[in-house]
Formats: sequence, C-alpha cells, structure tokens
Amino acid sequence: MKHSNYLLFLIISLFFSCEQETIQLKEIGIIPKPLFQEINKGVFVLDENIRFISDTELNEVSDYLKLYIKENYQVSFTPQKESKKIVFTSNDSISNEEGYELKIEENSILITSKNSKGAFYAVQSLLQLMPIKSNGLAIAIPCLELQDEPQFKYRGMHLDVGRHFFSVDFIKKYIDLIARLKMNTFHWHLTEDQGWRIEIKKYPKLQEIAAFRNETLVGHYNDQPHKFDGKKYGGFYTQEQIKEVVAYANTRQVTIIPEIEMPGHSQAAIAAYPSLGCTGEQVEVATKWGVFDEVYCPKESTFKFLEDVIDEVVALFPGKYIHIGGDEAPKTNWKKCAHCQKLIKKEGLKDEHGLQSYFIARMEKYINTKGKQIIGWDEILEGGLAPNATVMSWRGTTGAIEAAKEGHDVILTPGSHCYFDHYQADNENEPLAIGGFLPLEKVYHFNPIPEELTDKEATYVLGAQGNVWTEYMQTEKQVEYMAFPRVVALSEVVWSSPENKNYTDFINRLEQYQKRLDQLDVNYANHMYSVKGELKNTEGNLTYQLNATSSSYPIYYATDESAPSKLYVNPIPVDSSMTIKAVILDSNAIALGAVFQQKINLHKGVGAKILIDKKPHPTYNAGGKNALINGISGNNKRYGDKEWLGFSGEDIEITIKFENPTNINTITTRFFNANGQWIYAPKRVTVYVNDDDSAYSADVSVTDDLTAKVAVKFKNTMVTSIRLKIPSYGIIPEGKQGAGHKPWTFIDEIILE
Ligand code: ACM
Ligand code: ZN
Repeated sequence: MKHSNYLLFLIISLFFSCEQETIQLKEIGIIPKPLFQEINKGVFVLDENIRFISDTELNEVSDYLKLYIKENYQVSFTPQKESKKIVFTSNDSISNEEGYELKIEENSILITSKNSKGAFYAVQSLLQLMPIKSNGLAIAIPCLELQDEPQFKYRGMHLDVGRHFFSVDFIKKYIDLIARLKMNTFHWHLTEDQGWRIEIKKYPKLQEIAAFRNETLVGHYNDQPHKFDGKKYGGFYTQEQIKEVVAYANTRQVTIIPEIEMPGHSQAAIAAYPSLGCTGEQVEVATKWGVFDEVYCPKESTFKFLEDVIDEVVALFPGKYIHIGGDEAPKTNWKKCAHCQKLIKKEGLKDEHGLQSYFIARMEKYINTKGKQIIGWDEILEGGLAPNATVMSWRGTTGAIEAAKEGHDVILTPGSHCYFDHYQADNENEPLAIGGFLPLEKVYHFNPIPEELTDKEATYVLGAQGNVWTEYMQTEKQVEYMAFPRVVALSEVVWSSPENKNYTDFINRLEQYQKRLDQLDVNYANHMYSVKGELKNTEGNLTYQLNATSSSYPIYYATDESAPSKLYVNPIPVDSSMTIKAVILDSNAIALGAVFQQKINLHKGVGAKILIDKKPHPTYNAGGKNALINGISGNNKRYGDKEWLGFSGEDIEITIKFENPTNINTITTRFFNANGQWIYAPKRVTVYVNDDDSAYSADVSVTDDLTAKVAVKFKNTMVTSIRLKIPSYGIIPEGKQGAGHKPWTFIDEIILE
C-alpha cells in the first residue's frame, strides 16, 4: 500500500447519500499515527442498514463497536437483505499479534487481524474516523485502507494509588482512555508508605491500619516547616472491585500489572504488622512524601507474609507480570539489624546491596513457581539481577542499558521523558507539582531505544511507560491534567514508526483529539494556545521571537499598555526596556489561551561578554551563561527555567567585560533560596572593578520565601570589566534538610545600572 499524505483536509460536507443527510470529519488524523494509510474516494454511510459479521473469537470486539455506535450516535442496526457490512475476520497472515488491516469501502468495512487485540485497535482507528457527534445526521466515514502494527509490544501507563486513592470508576476511565490510544498495559502501583490499597484477606490489619494515614502533608515537601491537614485519609480496593477492574481492562485489551513494593516503600504494611520491620517498633502509616528507613526485614516470617500476599495477588491478576518494586530501599536499618547482618554472613553476601539482591531473587523464585515473571525498578540491578527479572529503568537509561546487555528484558520509564508528575509548562500559575520540567514536545521526541545498545541488545527493549506518581495529585481531575495530553504523545512514541513521526503533524492531530477528550470529560492540560517567547541576540541586534504549540491561529502582541492587537509576523526589535504581551486570538478575536507577558530590562550588561569560572550543573544550565545578562529575570517560584543557573556547592567567580568603557553604579542580582531543596543564597557578594584591588561588597538579604537579593553599589565609574565573587553558603546546618552537605547556589539575572 502506498504511504500517502496523512492529513486530508476536507471541507465539512453535508451531502445527500441514500437520501440521508450525512456529517463527515473535517480532518483525518488518527493518533497514534498508523503505519500505512491510503485515503480513497467515497464514503461509507453509517446508518441502520448495516450487518455485522464476525469470526467467533472476534464477536466481543464486534459487539463493542455496535454498542459504541448505538450509545454515541443513537444508531440501532436493522439490516435489510441488501445491506452494507462490517466484517471482522481473523487471519494468520497478519504477522503481528496486535496488527490489523482496515479497509473502508462504500458498502463495507473490513477488519482483518490475527486476534481480538488487532481487531480492537482497528476499531479504535475507525472510531477516530467518525465525527464526535452526529447531530442527528448519518455519519459518513471516508473510504480508506490502513495497515497498522505497533513498534513496541509494551505500551504502558502507571498510576500511583498509594499517595492518593482513586475510585474504581476513575480507574476504569483511565484504562479506557489509554486503550483508545492503543496502550496495552496498566501498571497499578498498589502499595506505598502512605497507604496499602489492595485487600489481602489473610492480613486484615492491612485493611484496618495500613490503608489509612492520620493526616497528609500540605503544600510542597520543600516548604518548611512541614504542615499537615489533620484529616484521616485512605481507602483500599476490595478483591471484588479488583476483579471488576481486571474484567473491564480485559474488554479494553489492557493487561494490569499489580505492584507490591518490597523491600522499601513498605512503611504502611510495617505500621500494620511491626514485626515485618527490623526493629519491631510501632511506626505510623507515613503522612508525608519521601523515602523512609522502614523497610521489610528479610526474616522467614516476613517472607511468609509476602508469599501469602503474592498468593492472593496472583489469583486476582491473570497477566504474566508481578511488579515487586525494589526501588529506594535505604539500608540504614539492615546495617543495624543483628538478623540482617547474620543473614549476610550466612549467605556469603557482600553487603546490604547483596542482601537486597538476595531478597528480590528469593521472591522471584517464589513468584516464578506461580507461573509469573517479576518486574522491578532499576535498583534491582544492585548486588546482582534476579535470573528472570525484567527491569523498569527510571533513573535515566543506565539501568536499561546494563540489563539489556545482560540479556534481560527492559521497559523504559526514565524521569527525563516519562515522569508525568513533572511540570509541563513554565507558567507561574501551573498547579503545584513535584518539580522537574517535561513539556509535551520532549515526551513526543522520546526514543525508547538507548543509543548505547546494539541491534541485538535493543531487542530486549519491550517498550516504554509513563509514570503518574500522585503526591501532588489529590483529585482525579488533577491526575487527568498531569497525564493528558502527555499520554497522547507517548502513545505515538510506543506505537508509531519513527519515520512516520512529526511533531507539527502530531499537534494538528492533537488539536482534533482534544475535542474527543472534551467529549470524554477529560481535564487535559491545554497548552496548545499558550504563547512562548525567546530573546535572540544576533551580533548585538536584539529581537524577541514569539511562537505557540499550535500554528492554527495567529499571535497578536503589544509592547505598550494596550491589549495585544498587533499581528505577529516577524521577531519584535528590542531597543529599549519593554514588556511584551502576546495572545492567540481566534477569528472572532476571542482569546484562546492566557495572555503571555515578558518583561525585558535592557540594562547596561545586556549584550556584554560574560565568563564563569565554574560550569553550571548540566541540569540547570538551560539558558547558558548568557542567561545572566539577557535582560530577562527567572521565575519567582521555580528555578528549573532557562533563566536561573545552578551550581553544586562551588564558589563561583563571574566576569563581565565591556567592549567600550561603560558608566555603571550598581550591580543587583537574585539568588534562589529554597532551603528545603538544599538551595541556599550566599551570605555576601564581593565585586572588583576594572582589575583594581578595591573591592565593594554587600550582604545578601532574603526578600521573600524563595529568593534573596543583593545590590552592590560603587562610585560612578567607567567600567571595562567587573568580577563578582560569589562564595557558596557553606555547609548546610544541623537540623535542616541535607545537613552536613554542600548546598546549591542558583543565580538569576545580573543587572548592571
Ligand atoms: C520511582 O520513581 N521511585 C520508581
Ligand atoms: Zn533486619
């Protein structure tokens, strides 16, 4: 089949066919993008006169389609003798387990697949060829041919129900939403320090005690001092509810992987049964986020508990995998525990990492006897990998590389591209998130196969997964906001062929897809119509460039007090200090997104030369050294943008040089000061002017919760060079987060006046 142009622009056509008015999609743009497609002339009209024909094993998918059409378009099928047909055929000539062919002609829709998986995905593509609403008209589906199959066999989304608990109805909605995007795995993170969420009949205290915490941290973990809401919080899924969800997922071709964390992230279970820990002391279900020292002690009685839990878990989940966690398990208690130390000696283990490996390998052996395989986070590599384990690589891709080179299956979920708990936009008013920055485009460009792998090693990469950790997602609406539309981008990463991927084309299709999400009542983050800007310096010529994710509508701007009304065509010349406002307007001059605003302070340092004697940390160097003298200040609340530079514990010296002597009296700058995040402003800053020995210095003063400011004044001087000495704060004091370590220094715009 010919690989034809993807987006077909048709004018909404209302026309007569079979004496019936029809409605047709304006644009065709399936997500995730199919492998091959060819659009032909003509349409298939969806009316009552259609006969469904299917091979027995595909009946369920055929019924799903029938019901979907009935419920969404109010069409009941009463075929006559000479009817149109929708035919589901299973055929072994389709080589991929999840592949399909979809052929739409004027009188028939033919779906061919190896099994019900491919048939279900063909239906998902078909549904995206229909308008969202029929408005009482018959639906015209364009004639076309698709041949499609996934790039990766593991296409997953995760949800943490430990930090916050979500209803069965919401879990089903989440599964339905990912299935529509041809994702096939739901990783259900069921146990955490802050709550145990799965009923285990043999251990009732998991329901009575471990499922509830006394209260919950308010605000961000980094806000000091910690405040709590004083409200009991919790819940769990009964085994009946879990069966209901598993059965539902089955109708959506989604496999559920339950995660039962061990040996770490187990404080809730230890609160219920203190003997599971090393000390035997009573602890409480955690009320704040983080990594806790309470981990399972590898005693026989602990293994018995975990094996009993696994027995009940494997009976509920028919899939091949059980996720056993393995991440973030501090060895603090094991180091002090007589039993643990004795076990290390007895088993001839090297250290506590060896003990973690022993723990995981022993549980793997048990789980393998149940006919299941384990998956663990990449920490399970430490101390040696369990023989049959699959590794989920979250701390970058090194875990994936190491495991694949050892011949183990791997799933990519690196924080850099797959953590949907990170911020997705740099607006000041984004809802509170854990931190980080993962915009949609970055997700879209993710390649799950690390470059370091040979072709052979790459065959161990099963696919990728988006993770949704819910510390900062109290509501189902907030989960939707963080997951969507990033899941939509990820679906194309794992399903579509890299040659077919194109971000601009994706955005055009996403614009349509968001209307489907509206219909499904999904609270997705809509940054489609947000304006972004960038200051460009071309040989001293400053301009400000505006752009937006979607190019469907024009950008309007203003550089004065008025509302943005000038059509943006070319970068805006910046020859004085100004505030640029910009917005996207539709054809009725209605604003589609928020008004973007950027203040540019054209102080005397802008355009000068800057040198820094230390390299900023690569993670906090997005704008490079020129970000410090580009006229733009950083975000007041977040240091992850391109204006702040971050240094890890070093004293810094910054030199600014002028081509021509320049009259300067004051230097002001800001430092970030989030002590909970180990970020400390320096105490004092010293300035040397024109290589003189005469130094000027000033104390740094904390101005608000998160920043500190300094202004160094000196005699009215013609300056050719300026040197700033910025010593690190020193060592983080006792009693503070990170006590004893060197703090970070974050510096913002250096304003010269
Ligand atoms: C993880 O994010 N701790 C796997
Ligand atoms: Zn112990």
